[in-house]
Formats: sequence, C-alpha cells, structure tokens
Amino acid sequence: MAPALNFTVPRINAATVRADFNELSAVLHYTRAAYGLGLWVSERLLIERLFPDREAHLLEAGCGAGRVTIGLWDLGYRQLTAFDFAVELLDQARSLAAQRGAGSIRFLEANATRLGPALTAAGVAPAAGALFPFNGLMQIPGRENRRRALSGLHAACRPGANLLFTTHDRASSRVERALWRLEAERWARGERDPRLVEFGDRYFAGESGRTFMHLPDRAEVLADLAATGWRHNFDALRRELAHETRAVREFSDECRFWAARRD
Ligand SMILES: C[S@@+](CC[C@H](N)C(=O)[O-])C[C@H]1O[C@@H](n2cnc3c(N)ncnc32)[C@H](O)[C@@H]1O
Repeated sequence: MAPALNFTVPRINAATVRADFNELSAVLHYTRAAYGLGLWVSERLLIERLFPDREAHLLEAGCGAGRVTIGLWDLGYRQLTAFDFAVELLDQARSLAAQRGAGSIRFLEANATRLGPALTAAGVAPAAGALFPFNGLMQIPGRENRRRALSGLHAACRPGANLLFTTHDRASSRVERALWRLEAERWARGERDPRLVEFGDRYFAGESGRTFMHLPDRAEVLADLAATGWRHNFDALRRELAHETRAVREFSDECRFWAARRD
C-alpha cells in the first residue's frame, strides 16, 4: 500500500507578514495613503488628547510609509522615533519625510516583538508616549508575540506614558458576531484554514495584497494589556468618536481605539 501523503501547510509567521508588506501592491497602497489621506479625524482627536506636549518624545510602531508619522509632524510633534520591519515601506516614509522637511524624524528598521536591542543600538531615549496605529499590533501572528510587542513598548516608555493603538473587534456588530459563530463551527469541525495560528485570525487577499489580521474580542485585549504592565484607561469604536470621510472609510473599516497608561 502506498504511504499516505502528509502535506503540512506552514503557519503564517512574522516573515510572511513582512514579505506581504514589502510587496509592491502593499507599498503602493500605504504610500498613497501617506501622501494623500493623512490622519483620520479620530486619530487626531485622540493624539491631541493623549499627547498634549508637542515637545515630548513619541515612539510609533509599525509606521509603514509614514501616514501617521507625517501627521504627527504636521501637528507639531518634533521628537519622533518611528519603526517598522518592512524596509520597502520605511524607504517610502523616509522619502516623504525628506520632502516635507521632516528629516529629523528618526526611522528605524525593527521588529516590534524584539524591540529592545534595536532601540538600544540606535541610542533611543525612553519615550513619553507610544502609538501602534491602524491595527499593526494585530498583524503580529501569535498572542505571545503580540504580548512581546506590548512588553517591548512598555520597556521603551517612561512611567506615565500613554499608549494608543487600534484593533478590530470580533463583537462589534451583529454581522461580525454571526460570522464568527460560523467560523467557530468550522474550527470545531476541524475545517480551519491550516495557515492560521489562532481563532480570530484572518488571512485574505485584496487591493493592498495579502493581509494577515488577528481580530480579538475586548476581553482578550484587556488581558493582554494587564499582562504586559499597561493600565487600560479607555476604549471606543471609531464610529463612537468621529465621523470619518468616505476616503478614510474606504481605506480602513471599523476599528476599536485603545488607550493605556504605563504605571
Ligand atoms: C496596517 S499597516 C499601517 C501602516 C501605517 N501605520 C498606516 O497607518 O498607514 C501595519 C504596519 O505594521 C507593520 N508591522 C506589522 N508587524 C510588525 C512587526 N512585528 N514589527 C514592526 N512592524 C510591524 C507593517 O509592516 C505595516 O507597516
């Protein structure tokens, strides 16, 4: 009898995500947004509320092509360190910063799950605040890796620093809840996409190329913040905070904003 063939499908990991963000379609998508879209109304509102001191040193994780970084610069923040692990996006961010006279922004290639050595090597001082905008944290596969990233940001910040980030929310609407109930049934039947790491993960193709995203529920994020030394102080769905333009809504679907404080 012929031996059974055993194909193992590799799970998505950091290398998968980095390669996807370095693809031309993703680079074009995020570069266009950095040049043309800028900060969302909700982002600006929370940035100004959480980081009132324009002279404070802010650390931005997953800066991509610099959409939020340049938005911060335009709001008057002058001590900015921004990092990403996708070098093609970083190149675009550096080039946009140079065009906008924002050459003093420090851009670093770094993986959020191994942040300490990169910041030490670059001599980066502790930050007074940190951001991981537009769901970047949830593009890290594996909960223990997302916790590593939260711990790394905690270690990179001073006591009292605020952290601002967004996630999707599996329970944000009736439709989402129904879809995730169906997904839970698929997992129970053993019909999960074998590339996914955990329940809540999605890996899909669209206009910006392939995207990995973990969609948490609220309890999961609260537990991750508590486990990594961040004290939750606020969360809200974007639609509860501001009305966004159609261009913003086309670029990014509904998300939940989170703010936490480093004790
Ligand atoms: C959705 S994009 C957002 C880009 C940009 N902040 C914006 O809002 O347009 C998420 C970014 O997070 C970065 N990212 C994801 N995982 C990362 C990791 N482990 N370390 C560093 N950057 C990461 C990606 O390369 C990508 O640039």
